[in-house]
Amino acid sequence: MTAEIVERVRRSSRYRDVDVALLARLAGEELPKARNADDAVKRVKRRLHQAVGAFRGERRGDLLLLDGVRAAWHGDLTDAAFRAACADVMRSHASTRERLPYLDTLYMRIWERTGIPSALLDVGCGFGPLALPWMGIGDATYLATDVDQRPLQTVDAFLEMVGQPHSVRTMDVVATTPDDRADVALLLKLVPTLDRQDPGAAVRLIRGLNVRHAVVSFPARSLGGRGKGMERTYRERLDRLIEESARATATTEVSVSNELIFVLTLDG
Ligand SMILES: C[S@@+](CC[C@H](N)C(=O)[O-])C[C@H]1O[C@@H](n2cnc3c(N)ncnc32)[C@H](O)[C@@H]1O
Repeated sequence: MTAEIVERVRRSSRYRDVDVALLARLAGEELPKARNADDAVKRVKRRLHQAVGAFRGERRGDLLLLDGVRAAWHGDLTDAAFRAACADVMRSHASTRERLPYLDTLYMRIWERTGIPSALLDVGCGFGPLALPWMGIGDATYLATDVDQRPLQTVDAFLEMVGQPHSVRTMDVVATTPDDRADVALLLKLVPTLDRQDPGAAVRLIRGLNVRHAVVSFPARSLGGRGKGMERTYRERLDRLIEESARATATTEVSVSNELIFVLTLDG
């Protein structure tokens, strides 16, 4: 029965590109609660919208988006027209769009705490790797993972085009922890998404990471303003995450006005 639900969900073009492990997990969770197969399909699609669909934006996050970036690429990551084209792609994904005003300084502020990574793991990356021109990581290896193949295809083609050493992997991090050795793992705006799928997933992820530093962030619509309640909730969430994962030996904050960002130094 689970396989039938997965097959039916995969027929929808919207979710064909999502890792089948996630589809199977959600089908397994929703089937016992569903009235019948139709209801199960509906429930799985609702969960997929929360996990993946809500972040994709209106335009299809597919390879067409890269056309402008390709046209602007002349071998220089610092070129203004090339950066503008990358920003255009990031504008199509809600979470990267919100980060655009801060790109000039954000990654430098993170590397001040961690050192410039030689290997960077980006978990639930979305279009995050399109910020490469602002990262200043030289020829570091970029390991990009997401449960959604749609942004990943674009990210893979992008990293290939600019000649960045990289690997791209489709992965449901609720079920599997990426254990790649890296200096820094980016978990940007990932924890709230994972919490909705499995309250224990973020702790398992932090425990299993094979990295020296993890950068954990949360959305904060307006820090210090109307978003005060949201900010408090996420600060408490971070405290619990640190306590339960029991790996952080130091934490520093590099928040910007619409994103709470913490750099965790991990043991081992
Ligand atoms: C809020 S977006 C953040 C994207 C990016 N990290 C950023 O901040 O710009 C959440 C991302 O997590 C991915 N995601 C959701 N559930 C996941 C799972 N179980 N395993 C891996 N990635 C997941 C989504 O596809 C989406 O790209």
